[in-house]
Amino acid sequence: MKKRNIIFICICLIILSLSSCGNANDEPEIPERIVFGFSQLGDESEWRTAFSNDIRRAAERAGVQLMFDNAQQQRSNQIKAIRSFILKGADIIAFSPIVEDGWDNVLREARMADIPVIVVDRKIETGNEGLFTAFIGADFHREGVKAGEFMVERFADAEGPVRVAEISGTLNSSPAIGRAEGLREVFADHPKFEIVISDSGDFMRSRGRESMEMILSEAPDIDILFAHNDDMALGAIETLEEHGIVPGTDIIIVSVDAQTSGLEALRQGKINCLIECSPLMGDAMMALVLKIVNGEPFERYTYTETRVFTDKDWELTHRQ
Ligand code: AHR
Repeated sequence: MKKRNIIFICICLIILSLSSCGNANDEPEIPERIVFGFSQLGDESEWRTAFSNDIRRAAERAGVQLMFDNAQQQRSNQIKAIRSFILKGADIIAFSPIVEDGWDNVLREARMADIPVIVVDRKIETGNEGLFTAFIGADFHREGVKAGEFMVERFADAEGPVRVAEISGTLNSSPAIGRAEGLREVFADHPKFEIVISDSGDFMRSRGRESMEMILSEAPDIDILFAHNDDMALGAIETLEEHGIVPGTDIIIVSVDAQTSGLEALRQGKINCLIECSPLMGDAMMALVLKIVNGEPFERYTYTETRVFTDKDWELTHRQ
């Protein structure tokens, strides 16, 4: 082949390869996925498992790339996880804080890296509310108030004193603080109610069993048990039954969450009242994530619904 022809073929090949590069660039661009780091506090309850599963499902539906970390009930692990999301260049971070305090430093680090942070489920105590971008979760104080209102109504005809035992959630966590305060606020107007004993069951079924054992030995003569979640109520019910005490009849039982096993205990008459705390926040959280990352307007505080389910409602809707 003549030298001139070879040069011509080479030029054609270069033009062809350049033009094929051009075609590739014309392909519709695949948008980069939002990278979302979520620090879950642990897996202490049925509620928590439902919440984790809901987040995973919602992230998949929204096409968001999820980095999920389970902190096994340790604040230090949550702080480590948030730091690692920052280092990995997350577009946005959310966390469900185990306790209220101790977050300001790591939130400052996220702010320095220009990464927005959503506080989910539980609230934080901070010297600077501007350190987080948004909150989504339940109103725990309202849950405590609703629990108290149910007790006031159920014991309307009782002379008093009405003796209440409380199994509270994790110490220094916002649901434990809010639920305890809400209940006491109602009782302040109804002094015949007396909280005779209160113990933390850490939101766990096994701890609910132990707490109930302790309550029965220290304050056996109680009228009401208020458990800060279904798991602890169910643990306490096991202990009561072992002692030959009929839950829901000998002792009125009120708890928070209204998860599947709590609702089943309500149906069986072992729990008298359930205050709803919904773990199904995944879709609302993803909507918030997309708005924040895309620079659209968003609500800074979003609260979930708080319905009340009682044994009376159950009887009314299921009486033949
Ligand atoms: O923060 C929500 C609470 O945490 C739920 O009531 C409880 O079940 C969970 O462990």
